[in-house]
This record gives sequence, C-alpha cells and structure tokens, in this order.
Amino acid sequence: MQQENNMHELVERLSRSHNLTDEELLCLLACREETVLLELQRAARKVRETVYGRDIYLRGLIEFTNYCRNDCYYCGIRAGNHHVRRYRLSEDEILSCCRSGYDLGFRTFVLQGGEDPYFDDQRMLRIIERIRTEFSDCAITLSLGEREYESYRRFFDAGADRYLLRHETASRAHYEKLHPASMSFDHRMQCLSDLKEIGYQVGCGFMVGSPYQTNEDLIRDLRFIQKLQPHMVGIGPFIKAKNTPFENQPSGRVEKTLLLLSIIRLLHPHVLLPATTALGTLDPAGREKGIMAGANVVMPNLSPTTVRKDYMLYDDKICTEDSAVQCRSCMETRMELVGCRIVTDRGDYIG
Ligand code: SAM
Ligand code: FES
Repeated sequence: MQQENNMHELVERLSRSHNLTDEELLCLLACREETVLLELQRAARKVRETVYGRDIYLRGLIEFTNYCRNDCYYCGIRAGNHHVRRYRLSEDEILSCCRSGYDLGFRTFVLQGGEDPYFDDQRMLRIIERIRTEFSDCAITLSLGEREYESYRRFFDAGADRYLLRHETASRAHYEKLHPASMSFDHRMQCLSDLKEIGYQVGCGFMVGSPYQTNEDLIRDLRFIQKLQPHMVGIGPFIKAKNTPFENQPSGRVEKTLLLLSIIRLLHPHVLLPATTALGTLDPAGREKGIMAGANVVMPNLSPTTVRKDYMLYDDKICTEDSAVQCRSCMETRMELVGCRIVTDRGDYIG
C-alpha cells in the first residue's frame, strides 16, 4: 500500500515537473499496478489536450521501396531475407498515392523505405520537387534511413519538411546486439544531429521490448529524447519477423508500450506521438489504447494494396488488405470511439 502511494506520488510529480530521477523512472518502468498505470494515462491525456486538444493528426504512409542494403537483425525486409518479393514504386505511382491521399484529407505524406541505392539523390529530389509543386499545402516527411549531411540538406532545400529516423536504442552495447558490425551507432546518432541542425522537424524512436533491451536501456532512450528534443517520437512494440535472426524472440508488450507513450508525453509535452501500426498488430484496439495513453498521431497506409504484403517488417502486420479509403474511414471511427477527432491539417509541432 505504501509502495502504491509512492507510485501515485511519482506520477503526480512527473506531471507537474516533467522530469524524474533515473531511480524514479526505473520504478515507473517496472510498475504493473493497474491503478497507477491508469492514472499515468490520465495525466498524459490531460497534457496532450492542453497542447493539441482532442485533434488527432493523420500521416499518409507511402512505403515506396522494400529494397534495403542493411541487415538489421529484427527487420523483415533486411537484405539477407531472400524470401521477400522486392518492389519499388515508380514516381508516378508515388504521386498517385499522394493524390488519393489528398482527396481523403491527408496533408502529410510520409515516404518510407529501406535504404535503397536506386533512390539516389537525383531520383529523390525529383520526387520531392513534384510533391512540393503539386501539393504546396502539405508536409513532406522522409524516412529513408541514413544518408550524408549533403543529401539531407538537398532534400530539405527541395521542400522536405520532416525526417523520421528512429535511433533504435540510445545504448551503444544494445545497438550492437540489434545490428551487424557493418552498421554504426555513431553514424545513426550523427544523422539525427545533422537533421536537426539542417532544420527538419525530426523524429527519433525505438522498439519496446526489442531483444536484450533492459529498463536501464530505456532510461537512456528517455534521456536521449530529453537531450535531442525531437518534434516526434515513434515507438511501437518489437514484433518477431520470420526469416530473420530474431524470428523466435518474444514480442514486446502492449502495456509496456502504453506506459512508455505516457511517460514520453509527460517528459516532453509538445511531442508528436504516433499510435503505431505495430501496436495495432499486437492488439486489435492497440491504436485506440495508444491515443488513450497520450498519443496524438495516426499513420494510415496509402501504399497500393498490391505491394502492402511485401512491406512486412514483422509477422501479421495489419491493414495489408484495405484500401486507403477503408483505412481512412476505419481510423475515423476508431478515433471517435475514444473521444478524439481526425483533422485535415499538416499537423505541425506546436512549439
Ligand atoms: N529504413 C528506414 C530506417 O532505417 O529508418 C525506414 C524503414 S524501417 C523498416 C522503419 C522502422 O521499422 C525501424 O526504425 C524499426 O524501428 C521498425 N521495425 C523494423 N522491424 C521491426 C519489427 N520486427 N518490429 C517492430 N518494428 C520494427
Ligand atoms: Fe533496412 Fe529494415 S533493414 S528497412
């Protein structure tokens, strides 16, 4: 009982001062007490509502290539997975995804893909320029992995507004357990600081329950977020993907993901926080629960249904059959059920 009272006191102090010590955060991360978790969610929702009201921002996800030169151990489309049917969308196909998205009220397009050398700077610049010209009132978000400073700079100058690059883990030792030696923790971190310096709205993030992750690693992730002050933080549970080195590892927990969403909202109140597809994959009501825990963004898929099943980052990924129209209206209903509303808006960071 005494311990439970202490936990309530921690939630109250986190909501008030937007910070706690490492030891206190560790206590919260280990907490499984239902009343404490519900109180934390209530506090996170309150903070979200103060900044963003009950508005939920939409991002239209266009998964434009599943070719990747990297071999992240967790990822279903890693280069070493020879069971994947590889595809690339053409420029015209990408533009046509944006057109259908625009008609459905999307004002942010997220171009996401593996690290595919085919999409060199020249090709990317043409795509960015075409979207910028045709959809001048929309935000363009890129999520293409690691590039050099100059490329990021050119994309920004051509009209890209935001960049999502999950840091995956802020602990070097943990990073090295999730990636082969050909990938560099320092380079990923460098990319995030370059993106910030160039002027992008930047998103970092990590998987909850990735293999070998400890609560101490999560504390490092939270401290990293406080230091970087990103505009967005993408977190979702790790989910095993067949034909990868982690295919037999247990998935992350929905409850722990919700706990972290609430903590992140309270530590960094203005952050744009998506309720991710991975959360919806592990729990049919996962995205609604994410919103109830303090998230304020959803990212329905705008990719053509013909390729959806080939962008299988993890097993049983949802929404691979539904059209963009179906995804949009499904999301609208889901958000209304939790007392929120989807808005037709670029959904920029409110500073
Ligand atoms: N290539 C880009 C990059 O590296 O940032 C973007 C694509 S990558 C597939 C997008 C994100 O998917 C990764 O940052 C990772 O956190 C997430 N992801 C990959 N495999 C996953 C898995 N098995 N479970 C949950 N999320 C996963
Ligand atoms: Fe490259 Fe996953 S390993 S996108």
